[in-house]
Amino acid sequence: MSPRLAAAPPLLAPPAAAAARELAVPRPRTLLPGASVAFSSPSSRRGALACLVRLMGSRHSSAAAAAAEAVEEARRGRKQLGMTPPLYDYLLANVREHPVLRELREETAAMRGSQMQVSPAQAQLLAMLVQIQGAQRCIEVGVFTIDVKHALAADSLRSLLDCGEASSYDFAFVDADKRMYEEYFELLLKLVRVGGLIVMDNVLWYGRVADPLVDDQKTISIRNFNKKVLEDMRVDISMVPIGDGMTICRKLVDT
Ligand SMILES: C[S@@+](CC[C@H](N)C(=O)[O-])C[C@H]1O[C@@H](n2cnc3c(N)ncnc32)[C@H](O)[C@@H]1O
Repeated sequence: MSPRLAAAPPLLAPPAAAAARELAVPRPRTLLPGASVAFSSPSSRRGALACLVRLMGSRHSSAAAAAAEAVEEARRGRKQLGMTPPLYDYLLANVREHPVLRELREETAAMRGSQMQVSPAQAQLLAMLVQIQGAQRCIEVGVFTIDVKHALAADSLRSLLDCGEASSYDFAFVDADKRMYEEYFELLLKLVRVGGLIVMDNVLWYGRVADPLVDDQKTISIRNFNKKVLEDMRVDISMVPIGDGMTICRKLVDT
């Protein structure tokens, strides 16, 4: 069984099992599949883009323009696709979701604050990570529904360490107080075994992390965490632009 920590508790189910949720607020972004079009010079590229848009006709021109722009960006090594509502619907239509998880997501969607649920696409990725890890012991820090123990997450994590559970978890997912990210991470690094994963949610924070004019506590905390983990050689990392952004951290050394 695996603890899940909410403003009130750790509880028991792999985070992915509870995580298939609908994204209500931000439209996530996802990676652009390999570009198959190449342009030789800036002027020929502009001409080709214009032709492409004309050929697609006015009904599809904005989608064609967006696709052409994405291809051009990919050519510059910036393979990041803007996620429009129709494309997001398409992504969701390609997510497998167990009926029980769908039911749980829909039940949670009726609750206050449900826009904070992870998206079904994120849930599917988390589930796959748990399966790849063969994870038996998981912690979710920040929980909505299912069996929950109520306590401050950092206190709950410390109590697990006090109970001798260091290095005994395979997987952790962090989605609670954004101002505590560095502290959660340090505690979880002790609780997770070498080779185990810590996945931090909301690392792109609805885009605020990249806006220098935003300087509230949560944004600054997430920025600081992102900077610190980038330089942290105790873990391998991969920041994935899915949902509101998740960084997958793999513990490399005993702490
Ligand atoms: C974003 S929601 C969790 C969503 C959940 N991971 C999901 O995808 O359905 C954040 C949760 O963390 C809880 N939380 C916020 N601050 C916390 C803290 N300091 N300790 C424990 N839980 C906290 C909130 O009450 C809320 O239930």
